[in-house]
Amino acid sequence: MHEERTRVAIVGAGPAGMLLAHLLDREGVESVVVETRSEEYVASRIRAGILEQSTVDLLREVGLGDRLVREGEEHRGIHLQWTAPGQPAGHGERHHLDFVELTGRAVWVYGQTEVQKDLVVAARARGQAVHYEVDDTALHDLDTDSPSVTFTKDGEQHRLRADVVAGCDGSFGPSRSAVPEPRAWERTYPYSWLGILADVAPSTDELIYAWHPEGFALHSMRSHTVSRFYLQVPNDTSLDDWPDDRIWEGLARRFALDGWTLETGPITDRSVLPMRSFVQAPMRSPEGQGRLFLAGDAAHIVPPTGAKGLNLAVADVALLARALVAWLREGDVSLADAYADTAVRRVWRCTHFSWWMTTMLHATGDPFDEQLQLSQLRWVTSSEAGATGLAENYAGLPIGF
Ligand code: PHB
Repeated sequence: MHEERTRVAIVGAGPAGMLLAHLLDREGVESVVVETRSEEYVASRIRAGILEQSTVDLLREVGLGDRLVREGEEHRGIHLQWTAPGQPAGHGERHHLDFVELTGRAVWVYGQTEVQKDLVVAARARGQAVHYEVDDTALHDLDTDSPSVTFTKDGEQHRLRADVVAGCDGSFGPSRSAVPEPRAWERTYPYSWLGILADVAPSTDELIYAWHPEGFALHSMRSHTVSRFYLQVPNDTSLDDWPDDRIWEGLARRFALDGWTLETGPITDRSVLPMRSFVQAPMRSPEGQGRLFLAGDAAHIVPPTGAKGLNLAVADVALLARALVAWLREGDVSLADAYADTAVRRVWRCTHFSWWMTTMLHATGDPFDEQLQLSQLRWVTSSEAGATGLAENYAGLPIGF
């Protein structure tokens, strides 16, 4: 058995785990990260591409903002569109919500994949210990002051001892299941997203969220030459049912607006994404005094409408890093003791917002739902109070909210 000792054992080298390691390192707190996947796999996963102002502010503050500022794109807001049932194609409405005007806060288009790459480069530069491609990860003694994580690597057994374990390993990792008798809340949705990446300049300056009787569509982007699109599809949709022509025709119908054209290009990636809301508590285990802290997808999943997943993980980690630094450097446990309750409050705000955006925008086939959705869309695009509520949540509440 190889024995290793650190202050914080971080399970998971995705954005939550790698950002935590980065923030701790800046304050002189040592950590070791373990990850079941390879570095290449983690760095190439395609995820949402919208960063809240507070996420961008934090990344810039801690030296991770250079490429973001160079290559990312600041957006003032989003477009919301709908074509009511029976309305002729092209005669729907498209409205712009200006978050900067409404809340003073912008959003940034910069893919999670890019954030992850920046984190990996920074980790290499400072010599961060990361064990990739480990198996059989297990958490131990979380109710003592000497917790540990065991794993096998290249056939050899390892034990990593620490003061604290941070579970940043997503909803399928071992951390979440190491919480005894958790409370959990879940909502599933009767639809999924078909996501595509295409080599074509975006046909819009800012994202378009489109309600359509046939189903929701989203026009997002990754750069001046790469567009990202999503189409609402039934659960269990097979990619085989969606040849390129069907995808472009579906998008063109759902985004149709007189005087506007959707440009098409080669599709370079496609996948079906299920949608789920999930919250598990407590985010510290065993509850109260335990040495395991959960952050990011290990504790909560939001559907992608509103792009909150990464932003929420960053907010968790910002809180957790502050709490662990105060505890491990100064012996002050007050922030660590407050972490689970403080973090979960923001989790529920984002869970509500993501659920609300999702249920406002996706077709259910129920005429009563349709009318409620259209009424809600008219309200958020015509009332300053309605628009500000959406903008405040989308552009992100301050860290620590
Ligand atoms: C994306 O660009 O992948 C994206 C953008 C906004 C969303 C969801 C996904 O609400």
